[in-house]
Amino acid sequence: MSGILNSSIGRKFAMALSAFFLMIFLLQHFAINILSVFSADAFNEASHFMGTFWAVQYLLQPVLIFGVIFHFVMGFVLEIKNNKARQISYAKNNGAANSSWMSRNMIWSGLAILAFIVLHFIDFWIPEINTKYIVGDMSGMHNGEFRYFHELVEKFHSPLRVGAYVVAFVFLALHLLHGFNSAFQSVGANNKYTKGLKTFSKIYAIGIPAGFIFIALFHHLTGH
Ligand code: HEM
Repeated sequence: MSGILNSSIGRKFAMALSAFFLMIFLLQHFAINILSVFSADAFNEASHFMGTFWAVQYLLQPVLIFGVIFHFVMGFVLEIKNNKARQISYAKNNGAANSSWMSRNMIWSGLAILAFIVLHFIDFWIPEINTKYIVGDMSGMHNGEFRYFHELVEKFHSPLRVGAYVVAFVFLALHLLHGFNSAFQSVGANNKYTKGLKTFSKIYAIGIPAGFIFIALFHHLTGH
């Protein structure tokens, strides 16, 4: 592994793989969260399953946490290496003229997402871990019913939190718009399928964050 990470291509490839993994995670996270708009029961059942099934908790969750940290650390490494390389600058590197604003600012959109994840963990993940593994209550129940839906709705009462989430989701869209194409490029998917992949990337990069915005606003505005 360290051998792969010693070359520039290897680092980009590893970055792309971690990005694909996180995109799959995001899709399943969205699929479960959107249930909360249609059926509180379905959302509760899915959340309870994900929150208590051993393979999710003890295999997938550690891999996910590793994936997030890897992507973040590697993003910094690539940014620093790129900046160093740029000191021996291109004959012509006129910012907007030969690269998009988003491609030059992946580190900033990434940091905005990281700030969101810290807030998001304080909101949801830490209380979950506390209830399940510190208090030791794996039942998922509160006052005779599953607590997940109720907790979600409660969190989206605050306009400040909803505002912060919406801003973060806009940054997520910007990050994904460039990130997707860049990741496909890094794994060499630059061929006759490129046009299709680009369309798919755009739909995902705008559709998923827009869907998350919809979920947050839906619970905020309807109060349930
Ligand atoms: C409306 C939007 C969202 C809602 C309502 C939401 C809700 C939740 C909830 C309830 C959990 C707790 C799961 C648990 O541990 O039991 C969670 C975990 C998590 N969320 Fe979100 N989420 C949203 C958007 C996002 C986005 C956009 C990202 C990534 C950029 C994200 C990343 C995560 C991560 C990494 C975890 C920890 C997963 C784990 O349990 O290991 N979430 N989210």
